[in-house]
Amino acid sequence: MSEWSLVYDQFDPKNQGLLEALCATGNGYYVTRGAFCWVMADETHYPATYLAGGYNRAQTEIAGRIIENEDLVNLPNWSALTFRIDDGDWFNIQAVSVESFRQELDLYRGILKVEVRFTDKKGRESTLQTRRLASMAEKHLGGLELSLTAHNWSGRVEVLSGLDGRVINAGVRRYRDLNSSHINPVAAEPFENPDTGETMLHLLVETKQSHLRVSQAARTRVVSNPHAFEAKSSTETEAGYARQTIRVDVGHGETLVVEKLASLYNSRDTAISEPGVAAREAVIHAPAFQRLAHDHERMWCMLWDRCDIVLDRSSRIQMILRLHMFHLLQTLSPNTIDLDVGVPARGWHGEAYRGHVFWDELFILPFLNFRLPAIARSCLRYRHLRLPAARHAAYEAGLKGAMFPWQSGSDGREESQKVHLNPRSGRWVPDNSSIQRHVSLAIAYNVWRHYQITGSEHFLELRGAELMLEITRFFASLTHFNAQTGRYEIHRVMGPDEYHEAYPDTETAGLNNNAYTNVMVAWLCTSAMRVLASLDAAHRDELMDKLMLDERELALWDDMSRKLTVCFHDDGIISQFEGYENLKEFDWEGYREKYGDIQRLDRILEAEGDSANRYKLSKQADVLMLFYLFSREELSELMQRLGYEPLTLEQWQRNIDYYLARTSHGSTLSYMVHAAVMARSHPEKAWELFTQALHSDIDDIQGGTTPEGIHLGAMAGTVDLVQRCFTGLDVRDGALHFDPVFVERMGTLKLKLRHLGSWLHVTMQQDEMTVAAQTGWAQPLTICVRGETRDLQPGESVTFNLSGGGAAEVGRAAAD
Ligand code: BGC
Repeated sequence: MSEWSLVYDQFDPKNQGLLEALCATGNGYYVTRGAFCWVMADETHYPATYLAGGYNRAQTEIAGRIIENEDLVNLPNWSALTFRIDDGDWFNIQAVSVESFRQELDLYRGILKVEVRFTDKKGRESTLQTRRLASMAEKHLGGLELSLTAHNWSGRVEVLSGLDGRVINAGVRRYRDLNSSHINPVAAEPFENPDTGETMLHLLVETKQSHLRVSQAARTRVVSNPHAFEAKSSTETEAGYARQTIRVDVGHGETLVVEKLASLYNSRDTAISEPGVAAREAVIHAPAFQRLAHDHERMWCMLWDRCDIVLDRSSRIQMILRLHMFHLLQTLSPNTIDLDVGVPARGWHGEAYRGHVFWDELFILPFLNFRLPAIARSCLRYRHLRLPAARHAAYEAGLKGAMFPWQSGSDGREESQKVHLNPRSGRWVPDNSSIQRHVSLAIAYNVWRHYQITGSEHFLELRGAELMLEITRFFASLTHFNAQTGRYEIHRVMGPDEYHEAYPDTETAGLNNNAYTNVMVAWLCTSAMRVLASLDAAHRDELMDKLMLDERELALWDDMSRKLTVCFHDDGIISQFEGYENLKEFDWEGYREKYGDIQRLDRILEAEGDSANRYKLSKQADVLMLFYLFSREELSELMQRLGYEPLTLEQWQRNIDYYLARTSHGSTLSYMVHAAVMARSHPEKAWELFTQALHSDIDDIQGGTTPEGIHLGAMAGTVDLVQRCFTGLDVRDGALHFDPVFVERMGTLKLKLRHLGSWLHVTMQQDEMTVAAQTGWAQPLTICVRGETRDLQPGESVTFNLSGGGAAEVGRAAAD
C-alpha cells in the first residue's frame, strides 16, 4: 500500500535526522522521534521524546548578556531497547554487514517498522525487526516490539531495555551554545507487579525551572521464544537511568520476540494522584503489544475515516498528503483536546523554534475546523487562557486590549529571541521579529472562521467574542489618525515577510502601514461588529460591561474600517508598506549564480555586510496573504469600504506576478500560499508550486531544517490547499460555496467535510462535482456551486455539471 506508507529501503547515516523527524510517532500528547530503538544520541542519531507543551526556561550568557529561552524539553528516552549475542558488542547497524534494510511508516495504522537483515563480524546471519507506536487510543502508552531471527546460529541473547533520562536538548546545532540542560533526575528504580512479581522499571525526572515532573515506567517481556520461561532478568539504576537486562537462549532458526510497553505521565495530567503512581499502574495494567496495536489502529482508522483526502492520480502525491495529515494528527489529536497547548510551528517533533507557537495556526486550523472542530477549539482556548498575558503585554507597551506574542510558549509571554545566530556569518544579530503584530490578527481570523464553519455560539460566547474584541481594541490603540491624509495609520510593525524589519539604514525597527496588517485590521473592525451582532442581547451586554466597551470605541472601530491607509505604487500594485517603491531592485540572477540556493537571502546579505531591508525582496507572501485569506469579492468589498477602487482582475494578477517575482521562498509557508493565490488564474503553475510545497519536508528542501522538526504550517497548508483552493470552498452568508479549479494531474478528488454539524461527502472531477449529505443529520444545508444554489436535505446528494459555463444540477439522489 504505497499510498499509505513512507518507505526507505536503504540505511544512510547522513539521512537519519530527516528520517527521525519524518518517522516520528506521536499521539497529540507526546511525540517520539523515529530513531532506531538501539541507538543513543550521537552525530548520526537523535532519539528524543517531547511532551505537548512540555517547556522549561533556562538562561545563558551570550556576548556579555544574559539571555533566557523557553524550550520544548527533550525527555527521557523510553524507547531504548537493544541486544547482543554471546557477550559480543551491542547491536550497531554500522558495525555489521547489512544485507537488506527497510523502514516503513505505516500511515494507516500509525506504526513504524524497521527490518534489517545482517551478518555480524562472526558470520552470524540474523533478521532484526522492530515495530513501534505511540498509542492514539491510550495517550499515556507507547509500545515497542523487537524480533530477532537467528538464521545460522544459536546462542545466548542479552536484551537491554532502558529508561534513559541522561539527556539534554541537542537537536539543533545552532542552539548548542545555549544552556541545554533542562531536567534533574529524581528517581530511578525497579518495581514489581504486586500480583505476579514481574520486575519493571520506573524513572522520574523534573524540569529545572518549570518543575514539571515527568514519570515513565516500562515493562519488558520475552513473548515468543521456546526458552522464554527460562529468561533471566536483572536491573541496574543510576541517577536519571534505569535499565533491565534479560538473558535468553535462542536456538538455530528461532525467533526471539521481546516487547516493551512504556507509560508516560506528567504532573499536569488530570485524573491522577501523581505521575509516578500513574505511570507504574499504567504498565502493570497495560495490554500486550498486539492488543495495544489493535486499539491504536482502530483509533487511526476512525481518524482517517473523518480526515482522509483522496487524490487518485498520483500515488506519490497521495502518500505525501497523507503523511502531512498524519503528522498534523500526531501533533494535534483528540488526545490534545483537554490539554492546554497551542499549535507548535514545528510539531512536537524536534527542537527547532523551541516548540513555540507562532501564527502558523492560520494554516492549520482550517483542516481541523472542517473535521475535528473540538481540537481547533482547544487551540483557540490556549490563546484565550493567555488573554491576561496578552493584555499585560499591551499595557506594558502603553497600549490597550490584547497583544499576543509573536512566539508563545507556556504562559503566553513573548518568547522571541532578542538576538539570533546567523550560521553563515557566525554573528549574533538583533532579532526584531516580535513586532509582527499580525499574529493577533491570525487569532481573530481563526476565531471568526471557526464560528462560521461550526456555528458554535457557545464558543463565541465563552471565548471567541472576547478574543476578537480585545484584539480589535489593541489595534485601535496601535492606530493613529493622520489629519493630513484623513486616514488612520499603523507604524513600526512587521508584516509576515521577515526580511523587512526596518527602513534601510535606520536603527528603529518596524515599517509603516504594512498593507497586510492594515487591511486585516479593517477586516477585524467590521468583523468585531459582526461578532457583537451575533451574540444574543444578554451576552452582548454582559461582555460589553465586562470589557467596559462603549459606543465611542465602537464608532472608532467603524471609522477605522473605512479609513485605514493602504499604499499603492506602479499603477495598482499594493505596496507591502509605505515607501516600498523606494527600495532597490534585487539582482536575482546574479545571486542565484553566485550562491545557488538563495532561499535565506537575509543570512546571505547579512554575511556580506549588506541588509535585506534595502531591496524589493520577500521571504514569503506578505501582500499576497490578503489574496490567500480573502476571495476577490471579499477583498474588493474591504477595499471599497476603505474608499479605494477594488482591484480589477488585471491588477489582481499583476500584484501576484509582481510579488511572486520578488520572493525567495525562505519560509516553507511560501510555496503553499503562492500556489493558493495562483490556483484560479494559473492552475497549472499553482499545481507546480503545490507539489514544491509538498516536498518541503519529505525532501528537506531547506537543507537541514526538517531534521530539527517538521514544518506543520506547510504540511497542513498543503492539505488545506486541496480542500479549499482546488475546490474553491468558502463559507459565506450561512452557505457553503464551491468554485472548483480542476487540474488534469489531480484525478478525482474526494473528501469529507463537516459544516454546521453535518457531514458532507464531496467528489470532484473535471466536469462534475457531487455533494452528498449523510443521513442522520438534522440540518438542511445550502450548497452553492459556481453560483448555482441548492438546498441539501440529510441523506441527499446533488451533482453539479461543471463543464461548459455555469453549473447545472444533473441529478438528485439519496446518498448512501
Ligand atoms: C516564518 C514565519 C513562521 C515561522 C514558524 C518563519 O520562518 O517566516 O512566518 O511563523 O517560521 O513556522
